Amino acid sequence: EAAEKAGFEHFMIKEIHEQPKAVADTLNSVLHDGMIDLNDVGLSEEEIRNISQIYIVACGSAYHVGMAAQYVLEDLARIPVRVELASEFRYRKPLLDKNGLAIIISQSGETADSLAALREAKAKGVRTLGIVNVIGSSIAREADNVFYTLAGPEISVATTKAYSTQLIASYLLAIQFAKVREEITQEQYDGMIAELQTLPEKIQKIIDDKERLQWFASKQVNAKDIFFIGRGIDYAISMEGSLKMKEISYIHSEAYAAGELKHGTISLIEDGTLVIGCLTQPNLYEKTVSNMVECKSRGAYLMGLTTYGNYNIEDTADFVTYIPKTDPHFATSLAVVPLQLMGYYASVAKGLDVDKPRNLAKSVTVE
Ligand code: G6P
Repeated sequence: EAAEKAGFEHFMIKEIHEQPKAVADTLNSVLHDGMIDLNDVGLSEEEIRNISQIYIVACGSAYHVGMAAQYVLEDLARIPVRVELASEFRYRKPLLDKNGLAIIISQSGETADSLAALREAKAKGVRTLGIVNVIGSSIAREADNVFYTLAGPEISVATTKAYSTQLIASYLLAIQFAKVREEITQEQYDGMIAELQTLPEKIQKIIDDKERLQWFASKQVNAKDIFFIGRGIDYAISMEGSLKMKEISYIHSEAYAAGELKHGTISLIEDGTLVIGCLTQPNLYEKTVSNMVECKSRGAYLMGLTTYGNYNIEDTADFVTYIPKTDPHFATSLAVVPLQLMGYYASVAKGLDVDKPRNLAKSVTVE
């Protein structure tokens, strides 16, 4: 096992470090001469043009990919998207449009609820597309189309690199759908593809800065609750950040859409409660800052996660982590990395079994 960890203390931190390569490999698998080629996925341009609705169905972190993908797909391709937990989808007798596309996201390709949801969609005559990491897995075999992520084997129960590659797959689908449906210009298309290719290097830059996050996360070991807040894509990022934190550090955490705080969660803020504000979306920045100020005036200790350049966040937040600039559609790919590192280092500081948290399994093949 020590050899497999290649000098890292845990699989999770090794896999966090493997993200630049996993992202680049997944990108390169469908990029040919600067163009997205979905031939291996098997979706024709005509099929793409005919999609009336997209249903994204998944569990756990894969569901959080769907939450982020929904904003990107709707904004770029202008196709209505609904994201649903597989365990809910399969039992609610979903009303599905025959021209809809069901996208099932699953690292293992074996999650029982996700597989059942796929079968439900197929039985209703809807085309299914799996975004899957494990070749030949059940979801890969049964889906009409498969987009393979190239994360390689993931050992840590808490997903990192598979999540990152699922995001890339969903961006590529969104950009290609937008292009085929003539929602973006050639120039926008080229610009987004060029930007995607910078992500591995930007992720690496965040990883290189990990010591500062280690220091900060280690100070949170006695936290009772941590709240993650954001709007839009930043809400999707918050959900994954919160899950990473709670599942491996056992510190209770919640993700909240920042605008909903005053409908309940703000009553939980006490002196010193850590609130992490995610602020990667320029159009929502000021709104979330004002929510952070509201938390601060009730005693919260604030961390801000934002893009280089937004230095006025330091007037509000007590601790700030910056990520490199990118197209806001792709910000999740960068913002998730500091949050993975926070969860990891909080768990390490508590001396917990990072790779095998209690009560959790890597692949949930029972209901
Ligand atoms: C388990 C894992 C999570 C994962 C979820 C869905 O709960 O611990 O990391 O996100 O299952 O798994 P899948 O293989 O379908 O992506």
